[in-house]
Amino acid sequence: MKLLETVRWRDGRVRILDQTLLPGAEVYPELGTVEEVCGAIRTLAVRGAPAIGVAGALGLALAARELEPTGRSLPDLWREFLAAHARLAAVRPTAVNLRWALDRVRDRCETALGELAAAGPADREGALACLRTVSLREGEAILEEDLALSRAMAGHGFPLLPAAGTVVTHCNTGGLATAGGGTALGVVMEAAGRGKRLFVCVDETRPLLQGARLTAWELARAGIPFAVQCDGAAAWRMKTRRVDAVLVGADRVAANGDTANKLGTFSLALAAREFGVPFWVVAPRSSFDLSVASGEQIPIEERAEDEVLCWGGVRSTPEGARAWNPAFDVTPAALISGWITERGVERPPFAA
Ligand code: MRU
Repeated sequence: MKLLETVRWRDGRVRILDQTLLPGAEVYPELGTVEEVCGAIRTLAVRGAPAIGVAGALGLALAARELEPTGRSLPDLWREFLAAHARLAAVRPTAVNLRWALDRVRDRCETALGELAAAGPADREGALACLRTVSLREGEAILEEDLALSRAMAGHGFPLLPAAGTVVTHCNTGGLATAGGGTALGVVMEAAGRGKRLFVCVDETRPLLQGARLTAWELARAGIPFAVQCDGAAAWRMKTRRVDAVLVGADRVAANGDTANKLGTFSLALAAREFGVPFWVVAPRSSFDLSVASGEQIPIEERAEDEVLCWGGVRSTPEGARAWNPAFDVTPAALISGWITERGVERPPFAA
């Protein structure tokens, strides 16, 4: 099956698959400015922790191209580059992959500029060329690595699933949430590809329907049998029918294993504990933030009330109704069976 091209560098622009239009239309806008990349991340045109990391990194490569050297000193240009880094990092606060990827590009550029300066007197044009080359090279390296990480996680995860059975997924954790491979859904795809007969219960994932719109689209494309269910149906499914495993992704894993992921993950984990169903988190090491001790310190993004109060752009609640719309929740480590990373199945305390 052809790999999804969720986010790519194409002719000096960042080309994304616009996920707000799926499953109705497969449209690939090309983003030419940092502001356009910020907008695409903000509106969830590109979404999922690893995918926004890649988009952010390539956005910073765009920032280096946008720098206008006339009348500016090298320190001015570097400050503008850092300002673009800060704008991109601030768009979505929970998924640590975004900040991780941006920091990685920034640090690599800083090292390269330092090496250039050490080699001779600083020349502004040369430094700018270096910034442009190194930021793009690092962004593309992050993209390529992400594809490899997905393959590694899938390889470690598929043996944990039965030869035939039912799994529950939440949100979208497939190619659309990464550079094109997948985290939790990548494990399901790998298992199905190796002949395991799996049925997938797809949580619809209110309010933006990443499960119903995106995971269902990916599973249909792969020919894997599934049924979309309301988020509240998972516990009842576990009580009344067999469920063999729950697989979810992560936006940030704290040092103690507390895991932030799409709102509804916590209640799914509570249900899995109640019914003795294994609950796996599938996430690359770039989703781990060992600088935060526990989930208490993970910032949770709150999104616009209208995402909850309206349906398809039409108000579905009485005028004056208010909504609370946290995009993520934190599942305590004690409810999680294991973290499937590119290194295998890990458990806290995680090695640095
Ligand atoms: O708000 P979203 O759609 O970006 O949320 C995405 C999730 O919660 C995913 O489960 C998470 O990023 C891990 S998937 C690779």
